[in-house]
Amino acid sequence: MKSTFGPQRLLFPLPTVLIVCGDMEKANIVTIAWISMLTGSPPTLGISVGTRGFSSELIKTNKNFTVNIASIDIIEESDFCGITSGKNIEKFEKSGLTKLPSTIIESPIIKECPVNFECKLTDSGVFGTTNHFVGEIVETHVDTDKLNDVQKAGSVNIEAVNPLIYVSGLREYRKIGKKVGDAYKIGKKLL
Ligand SMILES: Cc1cc2nc3c(=O)[nH]c(=O)nc-3n(C[C@H](O)[C@H](O)[C@H](O)COP(=O)(O)O)c2cc1C
Repeated sequence: MKSTFGPQRLLFPLPTVLIVCGDMEKANIVTIAWISMLTGSPPTLGISVGTRGFSSELIKTNKNFTVNIASIDIIEESDFCGITSGKNIEKFEKSGLTKLPSTIIESPIIKECPVNFECKLTDSGVFGTTNHFVGEIVETHVDTDKLNDVQKAGSVNIEAVNPLIYVSGLREYRKIGKKVGDAYKIGKKLL
């Protein structure tokens, strides 16, 4: 038996990421969870950002943004950037998070986030009360001490990153669990 609830936003788990837009002089941080990879080549992701917030206009004007993966170490700072607006608060200053210059685009990355993507805006559209921004990833940064092999981007140590997981609908944060299998492989047992 199943209970039925009509349209709900109960999609989980989602990553908690901090989007930074602007430049080193004046930048804003917005916490979002509605993010997805859209295509792999070139690596491109999509983010949903409320039309009424401060960040949408900055992204539209500057045409770039960074995606910074939040860890549990910065749970309070991450939540803070999701309950305040850059319209009336300087979030870098108030949260204590640190701006670092990106290498390719103007929007800075966040030092305290273990993984950071520099994205160039390639497309956008409005859906209801959100802007959908499409960003091509042009550079990826990973804290060296969060890699199992410093030569390999794919060797991120997930336990060390300790990503902050968000459960949409319940509005709660969780932590990631243990590895339970190898993707694209374990299903072969059923071939
Ligand atoms: C955990 C969490 C997830 C959120 N996810 C989104 C999201 O996916 N898209 C969005 O537009 N706002 C999201 N928000 C709300 C924005 O962060 C919030 O509206 C923020 O105040 C906007 O800031 P700004 O005006 O500086 O842009 C989220 C907030 C939290 C706490």
